Amino acid sequence: MSPVLSVLSLLFLLLQTAVAVELRPGYYAETCPGAEAVVREVMKKALIREPRSVASVMRFQFHDCLVNGCDGSLLLDDTPTMVGEKEALSNINSLRSFEVIDEAKDALEKACPGVVSCADVVIMAARDAVALTGGPNWEVKLGRMDSLTASQEDSNDIMPSPRANASFLIDLFARYGLSIQDLVALSGSHSIGQARCFSIMFRLYNQSGTGRPDPAINPGFRDELYKLCPQGGDENVTGNLDSTPRAFDNQYFKDLVAGRGFLNSDQTLFTYPRTKAYVRTFSQDQNEFFRAFVEGMIKMGDLVSDRPSEIRRNCRVVNGRPVDGLLDS
Ligand code: HEM
Ligand SMILES: *[C@@H]1O[C@H](CO)[C@@H](O)[C@H](O)[C@H]1NC(C)=O
Ligand SMILES: *[C@@H]1O[C@H](CO)[C@@H](O)[C@H](O)[C@H]1NC(C)=O
Ligand SMILES: *[C@@H]1O[C@H](CO)[C@@H](O)[C@H](O)[C@H]1NC(C)=O
Repeated sequence: MSPVLSVLSLLFLLLQTAVAVELRPGYYAETCPGAEAVVREVMKKALIREPRSVASVMRFQFHDCLVNGCDGSLLLDDTPTMVGEKEALSNINSLRSFEVIDEAKDALEKACPGVVSCADVVIMAARDAVALTGGPNWEVKLGRMDSLTASQEDSNDIMPSPRANASFLIDLFARYGLSIQDLVALSGSHSIGQARCFSIMFRLYNQSGTGRPDPAINPGFRDELYKLCPQGGDENVTGNLDSTPRAFDNQYFKDLVAGRGFLNSDQTLFTYPRTKAYVRTFSQDQNEFFRAFVEGMIKMGDLVSDRPSEIRRNCRVVNGRPVDGLLDS
């Protein structure tokens, strides 16, 4: 091995060891005691400014954590040498409210520069979105690091389509150690927020290539969706993911039982025998939904990255360009 190469591999090894993270509650208690309060304040303001924005931010946890772990990779903007995740299939024209994360990070950089990772901001903000809209509040584990890179390709490979059926979703979640109960409970995040007509056109007009609508849609609800999303109409128009889109509650599951789920990936959970019982239970017992949801969010938050990492100063760009180029190769 040439001296240059061995120095490089030593550097790589050091970076690798530096990222062995141990997540725990109160991680910033000494280094940035106000961190969680700062994020909560920013989320409160976002909720008042635009109620939907907190749902949009909450979604980041799912899209960040599934793709190479919860490492803030989702937040990186594209650069001339790196195609990031923001324009991946499930994210383009869909993920929104990144400015809320920027606002939280800016406030944190003022309070305690260089201490709190963007990956942790995503986790705190998701918890706050749920708590501020009437859902459970819980203690989050912190101590994640931010990635030096992002992968559009990995996001495309991993993130599920709104067309997905329950059996596909069960298998996908299982690959991340997430159970069937986790899948159903976490899908309950669609208790808040909206989706585009784009995500349901196939379901309304050509389910599985049949030229017919999804038979699982309640006929009255189907007529409402036809009005919202006419064939050939604007596919950027949005509809509510459940009938109480500003309240984090178990209405989402009641809607599924009534055949009033918005996405195919939602309604399918009440069609398949292996997920149906959970939907029914959560529709009847909100406390049980909240309990299972918190459990799922913590498990999803535990998906950490073992890749080289840092504490980013700006969530949209990595700190050190030269190191970035080295590690990409
Ligand atoms: C189970 C598989 C899932 C699928 C297939 C899925 C798919 C989708 C789709 C297609 C949209 C609307 C996108 C658009 O039309 O622009 C959406 C929105 C949303 N998703 Fe999921 N999702 C899943 C799980 C999750 C999970 C686990 C979470 C969070 C823990 C989550 C949180 C959200 C939120 C909050 C919104 C609304 C965002 C907004 O209003 O801006 N989803 N999801
Ligand atoms: C569920 O979706 C997968 C992947 O798209 C497909 O291969 C499978 O046939 C579907 N299952 C059923 C029962 O439709
Ligand atoms: C419905 O989907 C099938 C298969 O994807 C396709 O061959 C067919 O042309 C579509 N029909 C319409 C009316 O778009
Ligand atoms: C939706 O809006 C985006 C961004 O404004 C635009 O690029 C896209 O073409 C629109 N898509 C549709 C289907 O109208």
